[in-house]
Amino acid sequence: MPYAHITGWGMAVPETVRTNDDLSKMVDTNDEWIRSRTGIAERRIANDEESSASLGADAALRALEVANLRAADLDLIIVASSSPEHIFPATASLVQDRIGAINAGAFDISAACTGFIFAVNMAAQSIRSGASKNVLVVGAETLSRFVDWTDRNTCILFGDGAGAFVLQENEEPGGVLAEVMHSDGSGGDLLSIPAGGSKLPTTEATIQAGQHLIQMDGKGVFRFATRVMARATKEALEKADLEIEDLDLVIPHQANTRIIEAAARGLKLPMDKFMVNLDKYGNTSTASIPIATVEAFESGRITPGDKIVMVGFGGGLTWGALVAEWTGPLPTERKVRHGWLLFLARIRSVLLRVLRIVEGMLWGRYGRS
Ligand code: UT7
Repeated sequence: MPYAHITGWGMAVPETVRTNDDLSKMVDTNDEWIRSRTGIAERRIANDEESSASLGADAALRALEVANLRAADLDLIIVASSSPEHIFPATASLVQDRIGAINAGAFDISAACTGFIFAVNMAAQSIRSGASKNVLVVGAETLSRFVDWTDRNTCILFGDGAGAFVLQENEEPGGVLAEVMHSDGSGGDLLSIPAGGSKLPTTEATIQAGQHLIQMDGKGVFRFATRVMARATKEALEKADLEIEDLDLVIPHQANTRIIEAAARGLKLPMDKFMVNLDKYGNTSTASIPIATVEAFESGRITPGDKIVMVGFGGGLTWGALVAEWTGPLPTERKVRHGWLLFLARIRSVLLRVLRIVEGMLWGRYGRS
């Protein structure tokens, strides 16, 4: 059975920074409260030109560069997002078009902040089964568009950004070793965007009631998160036949330092075994784990051979963890020229759109309706 190695990684965050002091001018809050209760100092906010697909595509291109892989070599793209561009088309399809992944099937996963863990799990399963060789997994968010900027309970928490992994088939042992996934829909109302779906389609009334924006029982989510983080980590380690002592680094979902500290206590691990960068980005939902992974690698906290756990929780309720042995890019002779390929992808996309318009005109004149 082939192994699913993580061979590429990338992140993209908007340039605009919104600090706690900025927020204190918008709602009744202050830097001291936000830092001490959450650990967050600032977050990134997308500008009008940026979207979940554009940030996701930027992160994806960086991951492909690290893996030295052409987008055309991908056979599957999975995007996890809590703020997808639309109900449909899938954000994954938009990413596929932007990066020119002409041979890839693409779909979205909706599992709130746990989505990236679930998506990596699906990617690894697809590789192990022999169905796919090269898979792109993206976590991409523009949550700022779903935040109620008058609600101090939620607007202090969330930020925008994207992260991506490339997973590739390899016969050498390593890569994603074990995964666990869990859900408890009875807690769905703890964290939700109630309107805009088929149960409560958007109307003037739903907008006035703010039901198209994030609603959260913060304490309820906090209690749930502190219960499941350590438990899921232990479960995934057991499945990988590893002990807690074998672990080099835990990369948790970046929601709240106090939640990560509770997980550290539950696992009897010191905090320096945990990657924490939520001070800079806040909670970027599905993007938080890949963004933290990229920064952990860039700061030298992950090296080849390391055993790492990624563990997340979120709305749904959902939670899950995976164990991976870090390897890095697969050795290859050729050097992919991404700038040129991206240019071709843009041309191709425009040509396909034009062709569709011409086809529509000809069909109207000569075709049968
Ligand atoms: O990906 C999953 C996403 N969700 C989460 O991770 C959320 C998990 N929950 C949390 O992180 C925490 O529950 C929060 C950070 C949301 C809240 O922290 P808390 O320690 O649970 O605070 P609290 O809700 O119990 O509020 C304590 C006090 C309240 O005032 P009173 O009633 O004691 O007078 C709140 O009204 O703090 C007040 N408060 C604030 N004060 C200043 C709530 N939000 C703020 C604020 N600034 N932004």
